[in-house]
Formats: sequence, C-alpha cells, structure tokens
Amino acid sequence: MPIQRPKGTQDLLPGTVDQWQYLEETIRNVCREYGYEEIRTPIFETTELFQRGVGQTTDIVKKEMYTFNDKADRSMTLRPEGTASVCRAYVENKLYGQTQPVKLYYVGPMFRYERPQSGRFRQFHQFGVEVLGADQPVVDAEVISLVWNLYQRLGLSGLEVHVNSVGCPTCRAAHRGQLQKFLEARKDELCPDCQERYERNPLRILDCKNPSCQTVTAGAPTTLDTLCEDCKTHFERVLALLGKAGVVYRVNSRLVRGLDYYTKTAFEVMVEEIGAQSAICGGGRYDGLVEEIGGPSTPGIGFAMGLERVLAALQVQHKLPDKSTKVFAVLIALGDQAQIEAFSLLSALRAQGIPVSMDLLGRSLKTQLKAADRQEAQWALILGEEELRRNVLIIRNLSSGEQSEIPLFKALDEIIIKHRRGVQE
Ligand code: HAM
Repeated sequence: MPIQRPKGTQDLLPGTVDQWQYLEETIRNVCREYGYEEIRTPIFETTELFQRGVGQTTDIVKKEMYTFNDKADRSMTLRPEGTASVCRAYVENKLYGQTQPVKLYYVGPMFRYERPQSGRFRQFHQFGVEVLGADQPVVDAEVISLVWNLYQRLGLSGLEVHVNSVGCPTCRAAHRGQLQKFLEARKDELCPDCQERYERNPLRILDCKNPSCQTVTAGAPTTLDTLCEDCKTHFERVLALLGKAGVVYRVNSRLVRGLDYYTKTAFEVMVEEIGAQSAICGGGRYDGLVEEIGGPSTPGIGFAMGLERVLAALQVQHKLPDKSTKVFAVLIALGDQAQIEAFSLLSALRAQGIPVSMDLLGRSLKTQLKAADRQEAQWALILGEEELRRNVLIIRNLSSGEQSEIPLFKALDEIIIKHRRGVQE
C-alpha cells in the first residue's frame, strides 16, 4: 500500500495553490490598508500556553490538541489557534513597551484533532488579526469592519454577521448564577457534555447543538440580560459604529464562542451555502488573556477565519478569478543543435522577466504546439534545423495562426518589444 497523507489533511496542488495565493494576496492588501503588520510565531508552543490561554474547559484543550513530549520530555502542542501565541509573543518581546495599540495579523496552519468532514480539517489554515492595548469600542468596530470589507473585496454575498456581548467577569458571574438557577430543575435532560458544563462553564450550554439541550435552554437568560453598565455602553457603541461602517449585522444573544478567553464583544460570520461547517470567521474581545498568560493587564480583540471555508464560499459563488500567470511564449526547438540555440534565447528572455517555456521531452512539433495552446501561450517561437541553417526564427501568433520569420540575432529584442506592448495593452 502506498503511504497516504494523514486523515484530515490536504495536498494543495498547483491549480488550487493559485486560488490560495489570490486569497492571501487580497488579505495582505486589506491588512496593509488598515495598518496591520504581520507576525509569525512558532507552529508549536508549550502545552501550558494553550491550557492557560484557550482554557481547560474548552473542547480544544480537552479533546483536540496534538500534544507530544519532545526529546527532553517537555510537553509541546501544535498550535490549535493563533491568539494565545500572539499574546505570548506580545509579552515575551515586550511589545507593550511600543506605541499602543499593536495591530497584528497572521496567516498559517493550525491543528485540531477533530472528526474530519466537509469544511473541517485536522490541519487547516487561518487568517487572524489581533489588536492589543486598546479597549475602546471603536477598535471592536474596526476589526469587524475589516472582516466585512475583506469579504466585500472578495465579492462574497449571503454573509450573516452575528454579534453578541458575553460581558466581563463581573456581569458574567451574575449571569452564571441566573443561568444555573434556570437550568437546575431540568439538568437531567441535558446531554452528558452539558451536565458537566453546568458546573464548570454553564454559558457554553447555550451554544450546544443537541436538540434536547436547545429545548431546555429555550428562554434561558442570556448574557445580554445581565450586562453591567460598562459592558452595556460598550456594546451599544460597537453596534452604532458598525452601522456607520456599513456592516450588516444581527445581534444574536445566544452566540457563545468555544474558547474561554472572551469578554464583551463576540462575533461570528456564517455563509450557509457551504454546508454544516458554515462559520467562516469567529472572534471577539479578550481583555483578560494577556494577564492570564503572565503579562501586564492589556485589553485585546481579534478574529480568525478558516481559509478553506472562505475558499469554499468563493467557489460556490463563482468568485475565484481565472488563473493569472500565463506563459507569454513557448520555444519549440527541433533537434539537438536547435535546442542549444533556443536554450540561450530562453535564458535571455527569462532574465528579462518574460514568462516563457520550452519543451523538456524532445517531442514533435505538433505535440509541442498543442502543449502551447494548453498553456494559453500567445506566441510560439519555432527553431528547426532548417531555420537554424538560415539563422532565422519562426514567430507564430497562436490566436491568429499568422507567422513570420525574423533573423535570429534580432529575436530577443523583437520578443521583448512584443511583451512590453502586450503588458501595456
Ligand atoms: P475559532 O472559532 O476556533 O476561533 O476558529 C476561527 C475559524 O477557524 C472558524 O470560524 C473556522 O472558519 C476556522 N476553523 C476552526 N476549526 C477548523 C477546522 N477544524 N477546519 C477548518 N476550519 C476551521 C479561533 O481560533 C480564535 N483564535 C479566533 C480569535 C482570534 N479570537 C480572537 N482573536
């Protein structure tokens, strides 16, 4: 049996990589326009970072981490997300000493041991943004509007932006008490996971997809019902600013994110057309996280989007551009001597940055012309033994079929001029 790739991973082959590059380029352009700088952190971190950062009660930490001991018996984990790592880097590199806020973004692979299904992978890729050192509602609005504008730029439609406030530790304690009281009498009807959550993290019960849990929690108090004055003012201001930025959103008081670090604003973006795994982006504020991992008290907010899912949405909505890099000319050399001459022209053209290719298998003229068509080349430059003897090169326009001969010594200049004209057109 040939060796196969691990379950839940993908090989991204050349045609697909073009789409990834297009998406990543659009992301980088938008980040540049918004004044965000890229950060690259390690693919693995000490396990403790995610235990403390993401939270011991989360599914990610309890069930989904790729954890291993290294040769010195230290527990390491392939990063399941980027926020904890960025906060660790912020503290470790004393970025809090720079002008605040620090606006960062990252693009890269994340790892979660989940049951693979359409849109859910064990190695997937996130584009994420983290803003550290600013607690104003306008930052929440900027971050959400960045997501919105990126999707507009990509031409995505049918987006559902859900926004909620999960409050701060003070108002959440009040909510926790009220929620436990509400659920107390019907605790036995909850799924086993939610029965466990009842003590440790009852808020997550509101988010359970199990139908019986949803029945039990219908009408349960939400975090919006118990927000303190500060959190309430903050949330109202975020919503007002989102409206000003043209973001079409919906307040969803039952939106609870699956990570423990959130405070105040939480949000998610869904595209129903891509199936059950419809969340293409999730994020929120995490004002206690930097302190939790040993840094100075620092507010933070960010999001991450799954690039596989964004690409799936672009695919179903036919919003992916055609392949952009086409070969300008194909060199067709027939015979050993012609190949040497053609190779020299090929190298000179490539040195000028002109995309050209040459057959590497010694195939016939007919086959090479067919290949040139497949590559959507504009020109075929043909050099056979006969042309070589007369020191000429045949230039054939592959769309009109017209062809002419030019002296070999003029070929380089002529093709450079044709390419320049093509670029200008
Ligand atoms: P998250 O909701 O766990 O948040 O993940 C964010 C996004 O990553 C999801 O909405 C989804 O698009 C994608 N994603 C997650 N798991 C998978 C998977 N197994 N396969 C494919 N895509 C997946 C976070 O990771 C937080 N760090 C976001 C954040 C940043 N909050 C504040 N700052």
